[in-house]
Amino acid sequence: MGRTLGAAAGSISVDIMSEAEAIDPLHFRNVMGQVPTCVTVVTAVVEGAPVAMVIGSFVSVSLEPPLAGFFCTATSATWEQLRSADVLGVNVLGADQIDVSNACMRPPADRFEGLDWSVVGGAPKFAGTTAWLTLTPNQVIDAGDHEFALCNVTHMEVPDEPSEPVIFYGGGYRTLAPKE
Ligand SMILES: Cc1cc2nc3c(=O)[nH]c(=O)nc-3n(C[C@H](O)[C@H](O)[C@H](O)COP(=O)(O)O)c2cc1C
Repeated sequence: MGRTLGAAAGSISVDIMSEAEAIDPLHFRNVMGQVPTCVTVVTAVVEGAPVAMVIGSFVSVSLEPPLAGFFCTATSATWEQLRSADVLGVNVLGADQIDVSNACMRPPADRFEGLDWSVVGGAPKFAGTTAWLTLTPNQVIDAGDHEFALCNVTHMEVPDEPSEPVIFYGGGYRTLAPKE
């Protein structure tokens, strides 16, 4: 904890500041659009109501102990709710569940409307996900204009025949194609 990244340069003089360039936010977004991500919906029950947020930054962190996490815009009202929950659900969406992602981008109160879901292990699970996990909070770590939710993995499952995942890439949804 607390170790500095980049200290390995040691006695070799590396003028990092002169190499750094001002990063334009739009350029940042365009470049990072080239990095494909998963599409998950992180859910919770907060004060008796289901809460959902589409999250592409979901990542596995540690095997022992089992940790996973995701980044949220620090100012997100939905994150504010999720971070108060004792249990979080992670719905990893399949290629045929783009409608679930779109629904979960609606205004917060409308996100579950018309979707097939139920509370499983303390958090809302959508029918037909390609993988499902439940998490409990471990730590919230400041990360610029985001916060990283480091979580304990308490349960994880995949169906016997999971569908392929949906991918977010270049600002849109994609599905996998086999390489010829
Ligand atoms: C494919 C996809 C991935 C996303 N990934 C993230 C993410 O990792 N972190 C985040 O804060 N917002 C992410 N978002 C945006 C949030 O889902 C969206 O801003 C959020 O639902 C806003 O909720 P709020 O306005 O109720 O706080 C993503 C959106 C999409 C469509």
